[in-house]
Formats: sequence, C-alpha cells, structure tokens
Amino acid sequence: STTRLWGGRFGGGPSDALTALSRSTHFDWALAPYDLAGSRAHARVLHRAGLLTDDELDRMVAALTELSAEVAAGTFTAVESDEDVHEALERGLTGKLGALGGKLRAGRSRNDQIATDLRLYLRHTVRALVGELAALESALVDLAQRYRDVPAPGMTHLQHAQPVLLAHQLLAHAHAFARDVDRLRDWDRRTAVSPYGSGALAGSSLPLDPDAVAAELGFDRASDNSIDGVSDRDFAAEFCFAAALIGVHLSRLGEEVVLWTSTEFGWARLDDAWATGSSIMPQKKNPDIAELARGKSGRFVGNLTGLLTMLKGLPLAYDRDLQEDKEPVFDSMGQLLLLLPAVTGMVATLTLRPEVLEAAAPQGFALATDVAEWLVRQGVPFRSAHEISGAMVAACERRGLELHELSDTELAEVAPELTPGVRSVLSVRGALAARRARGGTAPERVAEQLASLTALAREH
Ligand code: ARG
Repeated sequence: STTRLWGGRFGGGPSDALTALSRSTHFDWALAPYDLAGSRAHARVLHRAGLLTDDELDRMVAALTELSAEVAAGTFTAVESDEDVHEALERGLTGKLGALGGKLRAGRSRNDQIATDLRLYLRHTVRALVGELAALESALVDLAQRYRDVPAPGMTHLQHAQPVLLAHQLLAHAHAFARDVDRLRDWDRRTAVSPYGSGALAGSSLPLDPDAVAAELGFDRASDNSIDGVSDRDFAAEFCFAAALIGVHLSRLGEEVVLWTSTEFGWARLDDAWATGSSIMPQKKNPDIAELARGKSGRFVGNLTGLLTMLKGLPLAYDRDLQEDKEPVFDSMGQLLLLLPAVTGMVATLTLRPEVLEAAAPQGFALATDVAEWLVRQGVPFRSAHEISGAMVAACERRGLELHELSDTELAEVAPELTPGVRSVLSVRGALAARRARGGTAPERVAEQLASLTALAREH
C-alpha cells in the first residue's frame, strides 16, 4: 500500500520525473518539529470535537511525542518515496498507530499546515537571529567605548569631509542593527496569526477550534479569512526583506573594515583568528569575513527578489508555486546565522590604531567648514564665508601647507576677515567639541549614545 496522501482517484503514476520534481523533503524537513507541534494541537482539538476518544487522544499524543523524539535524534527521516514533510510524518505516525494514525488528517490540509509551519519556523529562528544582532550591537558599542576619544576622518564620497569621533561612526552602524531588531519585532506582531483551521482554503465543516490551536502554538490569534490563511506569504516576503536589509548593513560595515584594514588606510588590524592568509603570498592577511559579508548581501537580495517574483500574479488560494517559498527563506536565515557570529567576532577583536586615525583626521583640509562657520559667527554671510574658506584651501594647496600652517600675513592676504582668531577652530578637538547639538559628534553627545545603545543592546 502507498504512503501517498492523495492516491484514491488515480489509476497509475506519478511518473518518475514528476516525483523528482515534486519532492521537497530535502528542504522542508526543517519544518518537521513544527508540523508535529501542529499535529499535537490538532489532535486535542479533534478530541474536544468528539472525533477522537480519550484513549485515541492519549495514544495519538504518545505516538507524536515519540515521533518528535525520533525526528530530533535523526532516527526517523524522510525516505525517497515521501513527497514532502507532511507525507513522511504521516507515514511515521501510521507506522506506530495503524488506522488511528489516519484520523489526524481530518479537518486539515497540507495547505494550512505548511503555512502554519513556516510561520512557526520563522518566529522561532528569528529569536536566534535577534540574539545574534544584539551581540553585534554590543560588539560595536564595546569597540566604540574602547576607542571613545579617537578622532577620525569623517568621509563623504570616500573623501575627507569633516573630523568625527571614530566612536560616532561605529555607533552609526550599531543604530542600523538596532533598527533591524526593531523591524523583526514589528514583523513578529504581524506574523503571530495562525492559519491552522483554514483547511485547503475554505475552513472545515468539522467543529474545530482554530483559536485553541493558535493559542497552543504560541500565536496571538487565528486567521480571520481561510483563503488569506493559506495564500498569505507576506510574512515570508517581509522576513526576506528584513534579512536583505540586514545583509546590506553587514555589507556596508564589511566594506569599511576592508578599507580600514588596507595598507593605504592602516586604521585597523584584524585579529589572526578572524583573518585568513594566502596560499602563495606569505605576507597576506585578508579580511575574508568582511568580504563574505559584502558578497553574501547579493544572495539575500536575490532571495527576496525570487520570492516576490514567485508570488506576483498567483491567484488565491493555494498554488503549488508556493512550495518555492521555503528555500529563499531558509537560505536567508541560514546564511545570516552563519555570517553574524563571524562579523561579531571580527568586530570584537578589531584593533584600531589611534595615532594613525588622529593624524589623518585633519588631513584633506577637513577643518575648512569650521573656518567658514567661524566667519559666520563673526557676522560674515555664509556665502562669502564659504568663498573665503575655499580661497584659504587654495592658498594652502599652492604652498603645500595645511590650514593651520598659514602665517597671520598669509591669512590676511587671503581675506581681511581671516584674523588670527580663526586659529581657535583649526584644531580637530575644537571642531569635535563644537558639534554638540543632538546627533552631533561632540564627545558628550557620543557618550550619551554609548549609554543609550548599551542599554538598547542589553534589552535586545
Ligand atoms: N509541500 C507543499 C508546500 O510546500 C505543501 C503541500 C500542499 N500540496 C498540495 N498539493 N496542495 O507548499
């Protein structure tokens, strides 16, 4: 006898090619624990509906518990002939219970099961993902704390722009990951809806209790619409977007680490345990973690794009296309859980070179804006102040000097407004301290960020 879930009306088949195409156990097996949890909840609902006796419920729950243990231990697995995780688990259950095992399928469909399973899987694994994001936030905050007084070149267009505290830059990355955590929490609120009870698409004529199943599985409530219940994959697409954005954030951080550890920048050194070597060039120490973070961002975007493209144009309710929802979701989750601990370790063990950073901070005439703003404070309109400060830069470039190296006479030659008083703003420390409004890079504002992000990372 076949273990297939749908043999009744078929004379022959399926063809080998169809079987091979259809089979999903090599990826949907990850949902087995969640499918079994759903089955336990469903068994209780069938019992309360009078469709299982007390004794049948006890035997059913015992067999499901046993099967769960075997799945966890790897002693029960899918076989070649199983189409999907649901079919494999029913084979396991009927193997233990005989005909009684076949009673569990009443009132449910693989369509509402799979939609529920994927939500359960994601809600569970997202908790681990949030833990990894919090660890990265903490590593960034700790690094910022360790080097909190170090000035660095702040850049736009990858050109020296204005000096900042390096801690300010590191915390900018931490803010991005804090938003990612916030986004996932918000996602969870919408995902905490159980499709169980939607059946194939229309609900069930049996007296089931979707709210009870929802509660037992940790959802806030059951779906209000059974068609939406089996059709909706918003939670999968939203997760893939959140994952893609985390990937983009990791990629941007990775790119900076690649730059900072280059010979040309020389701002930072990687710890040996978090860098790799070359098979031919003995001197090499490569930032592979940072590069893999940059590189993997492509597949996260690809997973999101693939999933949305699959969903586009699908008629409601269930279509087999939806089976293609799982691999992108699993891949994004799996890759993030692989990548994040490596990036966190790399950040946590990064050694910065304060002397290099501090020396580079004023280079490239990075205090020219401070000169212009000093002139504004003397009553010069910003339009002229910008011109004067620009002329000062040009004078320095001609002479091969830095701004503070111009003599009083040379300053006055550039513009009479440039009195020796301007020297008060020609220091990096002065420029940093002056940016003390909310969000600025002044040491006291950065100290506040350190405190608030430390608390946030702990709460995450
Ligand atoms: N394996 C399917 C999926 O992953 C669920 C089964 C629904 N199959 C069906 N023929 N209605 O989406």
